[in-house]
Amino acid sequence: MYEVEHLQLCDAERVKRIEVMLEGLQLDNDTLERIRQVFRSEMDLALKMQPSSLQMENTYIPELPDGTESGTYLAMDLGGTNLRMLLLTLEQGQAVNEIVQHYPLPEHLRIGDGDALFDYLAQCVDSFAREQQLDEEHVYSMGFTFSFPMRQSSLDSGILVTWTKSFNCPSVVGQDAVKLLRKFLKKHQRHNVEIVAILNDTTGTLMHGAIMDRNTRIGIVLGTGSNGCYMERSSRVLHWEQQRHGERHVIVDVEWGAFGDNGVLDFIKTDYDRQVDEGSLLKNSFTFEKYISGKYLGELCRCILARLHAANLFLPHLASEDFPQPWTFGSDNVSVIEQGTLDDSWTSVETIVREKFNASHYDTDDLKIIRHVCGLISKRAAQLVALNTSVLLNGMAPEEGQNITIAIDGSVYKHHTRLRQWIIEYTALWTRDKTTKYLLATDGSGKGAAVVAAIAEKLRRRNS
Ligand code: BGC
Repeated sequence: MYEVEHLQLCDAERVKRIEVMLEGLQLDNDTLERIRQVFRSEMDLALKMQPSSLQMENTYIPELPDGTESGTYLAMDLGGTNLRMLLLTLEQGQAVNEIVQHYPLPEHLRIGDGDALFDYLAQCVDSFAREQQLDEEHVYSMGFTFSFPMRQSSLDSGILVTWTKSFNCPSVVGQDAVKLLRKFLKKHQRHNVEIVAILNDTTGTLMHGAIMDRNTRIGIVLGTGSNGCYMERSSRVLHWEQQRHGERHVIVDVEWGAFGDNGVLDFIKTDYDRQVDEGSLLKNSFTFEKYISGKYLGELCRCILARLHAANLFLPHLASEDFPQPWTFGSDNVSVIEQGTLDDSWTSVETIVREKFNASHYDTDDLKIIRHVCGLISKRAAQLVALNTSVLLNGMAPEEGQNITIAIDGSVYKHHTRLRQWIIEYTALWTRDKTTKYLLATDGSGKGAAVVAAIAEKLRRRNS
């Protein structure tokens, strides 16, 4: 198994002191086993509707595309730093035409008044409909990807539980995002767009993956935020507010970002993790996401290095005021440094030390330290993601077969090669009786929404 190299510096005493400070970032086998058990038990509790830090939300999507989906569908994708509208034409379950339009989503809309945000979303739908010259006489079904934890009572309702990532419009919490969007679509007199489904980006990713590979049963996003969803036996899902129609399966949105918010994972929390949480937009929540996702890995790295710096163990000549300010050291730096480790090249880490840390006096040992820290936090993140995924895989119904594909998307997975390799290796290690494959389902959150809209139409026809 691929490991983080031991830290070797000129001064053995320095190594010893650093190792003591970084000890908590390494997960030994017993700890990994404990996390595995806690995750499984939190999943089971939530499925039985008992208190848990996981939501295990019923998405009311009981099936994957089967190749019969045809028609033109709209999709809106909200959850990252920009907003997307899509017009997707499906023929026999395959996307044959796709128009994508990006819209800016400035901070004053992401943080502030909820009505202003939803008014803007409706405006974007309206202007997209005009630009694409949608037929005013035809009603287009739209899938709405809303990548935040929500409570669903049907396929087309989603009550926001909490904002995450870089969003915070408090008035929307507790409200149905579909109703809000419908209200503003009406205000803008956009009557030929009907929201038939609301979904999470992981569900979109799973759907998009299922079109590419029929063995897909899990969808994961590892980007700014992180989460996973999977095909569960419907008999295990107690929260079901609609009439059942003999569904055998249903997609469950785990919402693993919040894993540990109730304290069950405190045994792995380090002081650095506490510091990241302290400085975050949403304190005391999204514990697990803060260990693994792109919004936090860079800040975690900075916090660790800041402590080493304060202890005179890293860039000792650098003045404290020159040290990067909180939340200015992006996770992309971690990916770049890790790429340097893979390529055995020091160029990128050196550039980062010079440019991001404004350091003119540094030596190879400083470079080795920053590399080592990036290695440790990346490996921990990869192990945690692989561990959750392996629990989902090992709990799959036997009829799902031994070959399971995991559709995945997100900037961290795409750009952090070493972390990706670790995820793949650890998943294989922990699911020995299965053959697993990770499939990159780029932009699944948008495309998958159009597929879900097609499935929603199919279900309406069948169940009416
Ligand atoms: C949200 C999830 C989402 C994930 C990835 C998390 O912060 O709670 O709903 O799937 O980010 O975008």
